[in-house]
Amino acid sequence: MNLVTLQQPSRIVLGEGATQRFAEEFVAHGFKRLFLLTAPSILPRLEGIIQQIEASGTKVQIYNRITAEPALDEVLEIIDQARDFSTDSVVGIGGGSVLDTAKIVAAFVNSKQQVSECFGIGLIKERGVWCACLPTTSGTGSEVSPNAILLDRAEKLKKGIVSPYLLADAAYIDPLLTITVPAKITAETGMDALSHCIESYTNRHAHPVVDAYALQGIELIAKNLERAVKDGQDREARAALSLGSYYGGLCLAPVNTAAVHALSYPLGGEYHISHGLANAILLPPVMRFNLEANIEKHAAIARAMGVDCEGLTPREAAEKGVQFIADLAERCGIPTTLTALGIGREKVGELADAAMKVTRLLVNNPREVTREDAVAIYNELYE
Ligand SMILES: [Fe+2]
Repeated sequence: MNLVTLQQPSRIVLGEGATQRFAEEFVAHGFKRLFLLTAPSILPRLEGIIQQIEASGTKVQIYNRITAEPALDEVLEIIDQARDFSTDSVVGIGGGSVLDTAKIVAAFVNSKQQVSECFGIGLIKERGVWCACLPTTSGTGSEVSPNAILLDRAEKLKKGIVSPYLLADAAYIDPLLTITVPAKITAETGMDALSHCIESYTNRHAHPVVDAYALQGIELIAKNLERAVKDGQDREARAALSLGSYYGGLCLAPVNTAAVHALSYPLGGEYHISHGLANAILLPPVMRFNLEANIEKHAAIARAMGVDCEGLTPREAAEKGVQFIADLAERCGIPTTLTALGIGREKVGELADAAMKVTRLLVNNPREVTREDAVAIYNELYE
């Protein structure tokens, strides 16, 4: 058995009502200056807990202008604001972009290191202030992962920072916070979570303890995503997705993602395609490419999703599973080609060049990906 290190916030509160529990526990901590990051669409729903926190004597500064995946220069500006406010606690309530930003602000607010020096794995040297994350989408798993992704505008590439210092101190996962997420974002973030589970399960560094989380996540997401997309108020489906997304997030620290994420980053960096959508589009072709490396595991993915595999060979089951995912994405309204996203075929070479730079994830892929392979995978995404 290979070595694995499990990391997650030391406190996880999961279930309906976690948001209210957060407010109570935050007040009990006795912090005096809360820097709260959120998004404009979420803020109105937080009035009650903000009032409760302010009533306890805590000053609250709100930054609610994060609407898309954050760029490095924006994050530096937010860190300055948090520093000027002398914050002693940082909380993110939002999607992955908000949570990633909150984690970076918390880590760097009192640090002498530059954020730009820390792209990569394990380069942050010290801990900042206390940080909690409350996800409002079921997708990125950022609330329990040591990862944050930023856009480097100069290089037009999404870059990752991975560090134990980016782990939140506490995560409060409340399915009720996800009830109002629009269908499109539900679909895209759900496919991101599914890709976390699949990419860690089939990973070169996969581990039985992480496989258990991953298979649970695959089953929950595959069986509930369409329900939540079609009816956002379906509390049972929302709860299942919250749990599935949490399992996907748990896979990130010990094992992490692979070629789906590596090939998706150039779509975000250059064309501002959302992280979830980029992964959703790339998941089926990368799975087809990877299938050879471990047919049994790909067949197990199909069975976990509830695909009828009776009488099929492992290869047939694995292929049926990939098709199920492609069909699921389509039923959830996700475009399935780069043609549909308006990215011309002449761009494939540039996309492949950019993807080959994401070596920290490509090394995890169960099958080696050459530049030619990357070109072939992107080319599959044209009509
Ligand atoms: Fe992701």
